[in-house]
Amino acid sequence: MNLTWSHAVLYVRDQDKMLDFYTNVLGFEITDRGPIGENAPEILFLSQNPDEHHQIAMIATRADEDPPNSLNHVAFRTGAFEDVKALYEKLQALDGINVGPLSHGNTLSIYFNDPEGNGIEVFWDTPWHVAQPQGKPWDITMDQAQALAWVQENFGEETTFEPREAYYARRHQA
Ligand SMILES: [Fe+2]
Repeated sequence: MNLTWSHAVLYVRDQDKMLDFYTNVLGFEITDRGPIGENAPEILFLSQNPDEHHQIAMIATRADEDPPNSLNHVAFRTGAFEDVKALYEKLQALDGINVGPLSHGNTLSIYFNDPEGNGIEVFWDTPWHVAQPQGKPWDITMDQAQALAWVQENFGEETTFEPREAYYARRHQA
């Protein structure tokens, strides 16, 4: 068996607001929608991966007012360092959204909340692997070369720090 990440389904309170955030801010498209049964609420399917029917789905039946406690965060990989910086800027301008940069050594990530408080991580892979868990805030104003030099300075002394190809080659052999 080989399980890879597919999707998360969220119960939401304000479907219009959540849909606006996931489509207009994060760039997802609606791939399907419809009631989950007779006289039942609608489920909305969202994706931006052409190989994935949905990466996020939402059902507007959430009634409680407390922050979500069953989900820490969902995480999405992006292929370009600049995407992380651009999204940070975009999110910073939005009321009610808190965003912060955090690097795990193997990623340069930003963490933020959606309009209903669900945690989200968007990250760019660094060329390295290092044992987890660990994280340090990084300066989002750095360019890619500066950020990579910073990662090397901050994580490079660790015994588990190595090129990501080396780590994943071993994982494939296991
Ligand atoms: Fe994460």
